[in-house]
Amino acid sequence: MLKGKKFILGISGGIAAYKCAALTRLLVKEGAEVQVIMTKLAKEFITPLTMATLSKRPILVDFFNPENGDWNSHVDSGLWADAMIVAPATANTMGKMANGVADNLLITTYLSARCPVFVAPTMDLDMYQHPSTRRNMDTLRSYGNHLIEPNAGELASGLIGKGRMAEPEEIVAALKHFFNQDNRPQLKGRKILVSAGPTHEKIDPVRFIGNYSSGKMGYAIAEELARRGAEVTLVSGPTTLSADHPNIKRIDVTSAKEMLNACEKEFEQVDGAIMSAAVADYTPVSPANEKMKRTSNELSIHLEATVDIAAALGTKKMAGQVLVGFALETHDAVQNANKKLIKKNLDFIVLNSLADEGAGFNSDTNKITIIDKDNKLKEFALKSKKEVACDIIDELAIYFK
Ligand code: CTP
Repeated sequence: MLKGKKFILGISGGIAAYKCAALTRLLVKEGAEVQVIMTKLAKEFITPLTMATLSKRPILVDFFNPENGDWNSHVDSGLWADAMIVAPATANTMGKMANGVADNLLITTYLSARCPVFVAPTMDLDMYQHPSTRRNMDTLRSYGNHLIEPNAGELASGLIGKGRMAEPEEIVAALKHFFNQDNRPQLKGRKILVSAGPTHEKIDPVRFIGNYSSGKMGYAIAEELARRGAEVTLVSGPTTLSADHPNIKRIDVTSAKEMLNACEKEFEQVDGAIMSAAVADYTPVSPANEKMKRTSNELSIHLEATVDIAAALGTKKMAGQVLVGFALETHDAVQNANKKLIKKNLDFIVLNSLADEGAGFNSDTNKITIIDKDNKLKEFALKSKKEVACDIIDELAIYFK
């Protein structure tokens, strides 16, 4: 399925380098071409002969061939490839990638590559959790690189925890997903509205009422919809996230009222809407025009209810339009989610319970249950928000069949 695709496989020096033999074999079996670049240390973990045999190409290590002076052009390799995979990516290599320390061919190729880059980290538990590693990984994400999360389990050191490089099958699955070859239902020609992030309700010029929503779930949904060909309007409350896909039109709003206005306007033109925003339920009745002074020991702020945006769209829903909501619950989760589904005239609701570890506002993972109008429940395992977005969109696609 990855037939004809060209990959650079950059191997750095970690014990998981042995998995690159299986990875290369899988890619070649899929009909892909693989050019292996190894760091000097990687050669201690897996032999160049093994990798050259499996990839059917001489591997590259040095900037030039010391025997005849032949130059290994990192620029040419970077332009040749459809994607670069750095696996295993050690803490050292990720640090160099994040900071442009170009002291080997793998890094110079990475810096020259114009193709998408996939990074499969591997390291020991404590190294993986170190703030410097976390920061480097965030930096790589901010460059648009795709991090393939390591798995938890027994590590080479004997410690138990997260740090084991993703399995070759998982890396191939991530590549297929990226190249749209994962047989997920496509949504070309569909227009979808997504609300995301928190809202900020003004108290005075320097203060607001907000919540902990990061917007990650909504942005992951918008990106996955766009990847599958849908035209997406993303109405976003204040977040630090960016959504770069050309199929995403982003409308920034601050308050629940602004979000309502933008969503109502857009809803008429879409086939469906996914309301993932954490909209404030109350807003100050009369925000102060000047900064409020500390005058007494107590302060009451008079709040009024905001309009329920999902419910407002629910009353306007036309035949053929699909409306999806979220429910974040701390208790009686299924019953409460069901009530919301009916009250807001939703087609299905995505329940996440704060009782589940790894689910909720700021985490990169989520654990959901999808409930439909017939009260049918589909429970999903704890997954990355990207994968959760896939599950939600698979469900949405059923309604468009
Ligand atoms: N929602 C909305 N507008 C609001 C409040 C909620 O569009 N003013 C949407 C959310 O985007 C979500 C769904 O309604 O899709 C449920 O949100 P949630 O906060 O869980 O529920 P509420 O209806 O606000 O109920 P409560 O806070 O009482 O649990």
